[in-house]
Amino acid sequence: MRSDYCGTLRSEHIGKTVSLYGWIDGWRDHGGVIFLDLRDYTGVVQIVSDPQRTPESYHLASSLRNEYVVRVEGRVSARPEHSLNPRLSTGTVEVYADTLEVLNRAETPPFAISKDEEVDEKLRLKFRYLDLRRGRMQKLLRLRHWVMQIVRRHLDERGFTEIETPVLVKSTPEGARDYLVPSRVNPGDWFALPQSPQLFKQLLMVAGFDRYYQIARCFRDEDLRADRQPEFTQLDIEMSFLSMEEIIALNEGLVAAILQETMGLELSLPLRRLTYAEAMVRYGSDKPDTRFGLELVEVSEVFRESSFQVLSGAVAAGGKVVCLPVPGAEGITNTRVKPGGDLFEFVTQFGARGLLFARVREGGQVDTIGAFSKSLTPEIAAGMIEKTGAQPGHLLLFGAGDGTAVPTVLNYLGRLRLKMGEELGLIDPNRHNLLWVTDFPMFEWNAEEKRLEALHHPFTAPRPEDEHDLKTARALAYDIIWNGVEVGGGSLRIYRRALQERVFETIGLTEEEARAKFGFLLDAFEYGTPPHGGIAYGFDRFVMLIAGEQSIREVIAFPKTQRAQDLMLGAPSAVADRQLKELNVRSTLLPKPQG
Ligand code: AMO
Repeated sequence: MRSDYCGTLRSEHIGKTVSLYGWIDGWRDHGGVIFLDLRDYTGVVQIVSDPQRTPESYHLASSLRNEYVVRVEGRVSARPEHSLNPRLSTGTVEVYADTLEVLNRAETPPFAISKDEEVDEKLRLKFRYLDLRRGRMQKLLRLRHWVMQIVRRHLDERGFTEIETPVLVKSTPEGARDYLVPSRVNPGDWFALPQSPQLFKQLLMVAGFDRYYQIARCFRDEDLRADRQPEFTQLDIEMSFLSMEEIIALNEGLVAAILQETMGLELSLPLRRLTYAEAMVRYGSDKPDTRFGLELVEVSEVFRESSFQVLSGAVAAGGKVVCLPVPGAEGITNTRVKPGGDLFEFVTQFGARGLLFARVREGGQVDTIGAFSKSLTPEIAAGMIEKTGAQPGHLLLFGAGDGTAVPTVLNYLGRLRLKMGEELGLIDPNRHNLLWVTDFPMFEWNAEEKRLEALHHPFTAPRPEDEHDLKTARALAYDIIWNGVEVGGGSLRIYRRALQERVFETIGLTEEEARAKFGFLLDAFEYGTPPHGGIAYGFDRFVMLIAGEQSIREVIAFPKTQRAQDLMLGAPSAVADRQLKELNVRSTLLPKPQG
């Protein structure tokens, strides 16, 4: 029987006979006496095996290796003065082993468990059970658990009901590709795994639950990044009869409670808000990192009359010239900004056709190169400086595009802003900026499919004053951004059938298509649907930021790689023909499309 956990032993236990279980974390032979570190999830305690006192256990102790699983029985003693270890919570005591029992042996692990050293991520994921045994990962998963408990307690106290929704569903349009599951009993039909519980939570409001939440698994077959997994967890919330202000206030209370308890961080509420339009114009992003300045500045007027066609032409075509003024940029060479340079290449991958630049010198002189330099009049130079507030040492980076290209220009300059902020060390990692972005447009243009599509999802309500022209309407939607990461997003929902039908029509769904896909929702609207709204947090992202980690894989027990594989399971994998036959399907791999 275990009497205590390793990491809990303290001076007050001196004299107690204990029975401990754990893994060997390390061992040292000091002149005939063996010192073992015994580890369980609470920590490590030093075990001493002295041949003078217990010859049998000494014999066994000398055969132990790291990661052996053992039981130790012995007496807790005070450590001698010279071996006190203030870095260890159990550093004032040690346990003299009377009995040692090996419960299991272990191969030498592929990486050290007891040390926090950099290990190749592929190896970590292949041996995830060993990776998770390391102290760092134990802490991260316990943090995740802790945040879940805070959420549950907080929402439970405020009248929320936790309700689970199905995982085998009909596809919901969150904008990513679905994972599909064939139905054996309905040959030819497929389930989709939910991209989110969106429609279920709305139907729970129709059902009168008033306040719902769920810590829900979601599945999206999309390109992966450090903060995207094919299978991830949302904290999903929905409420009835509340205004947007009330929903936002309730969420701020929840977020503040979590950050206060886990990080000791006092958020100042209400959080700052930016409209989508303002966020785009000032930061070139709908999830701005506001821990540093480097704001974009529109300089269209400065160039309206310029002889330099690239800029004046863009303005004349209803577009914009936008500047990213970078202070203290003497160290950034022209080579980096010119074609072939890394900064030039960086913006071209986001659609830039060029990257114009100018430098401000002492005395307000402005230098550029090439054709841009020939067009530079004293008035234009003065205009640039005045508009951007540039000082000597500033590098001014310009992007320009006609009306339809403006979002592209803002996007690549926004990304360049982040890159420069990082490079110049302007981002304080100890700062935490949370804010709301509101007033998103209802729709954005999908150039490939040549149609409008919902920016959030088609159940988002428009601002009432914009309802008359849905195409240009702003949504009653809000995203919560933490240090430039979108940690959550939600909206007020449409709850009247006629408006919902107009939105479906705007995104190009015919009446039949809308019926086939969302008939159940349109029907539900006929039976007394309350006004409602909600939000979903990317739970993994949230925990990642609390932990100060760079990737959500660090806070997910068994994540997938960037290529959507589980290296431990070896999944996805081929299945037996017999299994496919049972499902009434045959697998024929189509050749990969060229390009
Ligand atoms: P949305 O699609 O914005 O909204 O998702 C909500 C939040 O989920 C997180 N997230 C992800 N996290 C990890 N990996 C992914 N692949 C991934 N995709 C999204 C983000 C995001 O802010 N039903 C709506 C919410 C609502 O309207 O209530 C929805 O799913 O942090």
